Amino acid sequence: MNFNYYLPTEIIFGCGKVKELNRLIDKGTDNILIVTDKNVFEKSGAQGAVLNRLKDFRIEIFDEVEENPSFRTLIKGTKIAKESNAQLILGIGGGSPMDAAKGIAAFATNEVNVNDFFEGDDLSKDPLPVVCLPTTSGTGSEVTPYAIFTDMEKGKKVCFSKPGIFPKFSIIDPELSYSMPEHVAINTGVDALTHAIEAYLSLQTFPMNDLFAIEAVKTVLENLTRASQKDKVAMNKLAYASMQAGISITHASTILLHIMAYPLTVFHGIPHGKANAILLPAFLEFMKRKSFLKQKVNTIWDMFEEFGGVNNFITGLNIPTRLSSYGIRKEEFKNFARDTIIKDDIKITPAEVTEEDIIEIYTSTF
Ligand SMILES: [Fe+2]
Repeated sequence: MNFNYYLPTEIIFGCGKVKELNRLIDKGTDNILIVTDKNVFEKSGAQGAVLNRLKDFRIEIFDEVEENPSFRTLIKGTKIAKESNAQLILGIGGGSPMDAAKGIAAFATNEVNVNDFFEGDDLSKDPLPVVCLPTTSGTGSEVTPYAIFTDMEKGKKVCFSKPGIFPKFSIIDPELSYSMPEHVAINTGVDALTHAIEAYLSLQTFPMNDLFAIEAVKTVLENLTRASQKDKVAMNKLAYASMQAGISITHASTILLHIMAYPLTVFHGIPHGKANAILLPAFLEFMKRKSFLKQKVNTIWDMFEEFGGVNNFITGLNIPTRLSSYGIRKEEFKNFARDTIIKDDIKITPAEVTEEDIIEIYTSTF
């Protein structure tokens, strides 16, 4: 067995823990840039809770982060970080603001053009410290070194990963997630579910990592429906499961399912977590047939049994699992598959996967 376990993020978990924010910020920090989404910042209660505690700092707020942040957002946020001499970037919201915060932290210390970087330029200087406060339960961005951006011109998502963008600390205060609308709770909850499943099946995982992944799968299955109906105990558990699933993908990554779901978001605007959920039954069916980790695939498959099976669990959350329900056309599958097969995550998927297999998975759920 070989593995590296590196998680430099300090995790402060618990209801009301947002109160500890100012205490945790390094002495010597004066200027903070908050990166958020205006709507979420206000509605989650984070605005009041955070600004009240940061009265002694100079605060700049960039609250224009959209779902699936674009290069434009990254460029704009970086400019604000530089102009305000930000010394710390505080990402508040779901995965999009947290990812944007990480990207801004990395570009703020470098003179690299965003487009050039994604073509291969290097970010040689260390990022500014990042702190995350999640207000949804699913992306796990609060404990990962990943940030995902959308290249609108090329119509693709690019994943940016760098150890320096691990948050310095993350405060996971479930109370900040209580205002999530039902569909957001579901879409982010199924994202956590697929993170845990894919990390568990990834060829990069190891037994210690599997413990977190399996517990996260179980917790999401048992609590997601109640969490979406605003049951606070279930929401607290989802916040915990999201963190566990995030830690598992930090160490094992996601695999085929996530990269197959990207085109659904880029070309059809389907929310990220939901896109994964739509393809989950077809993905697991494929893995049952083709994976060389049969036992692990069966373990996951069996965990859905008491919830009526994989497909019933997903459709029970009001997520139809037929691609035709979303206006997606069969003719698009070839392009989707061409974008997917070139991604590195194919190599850590425990099956021989061809372009034809990918088209077949899309087609099987048409
Ligand atoms: Fe995800």
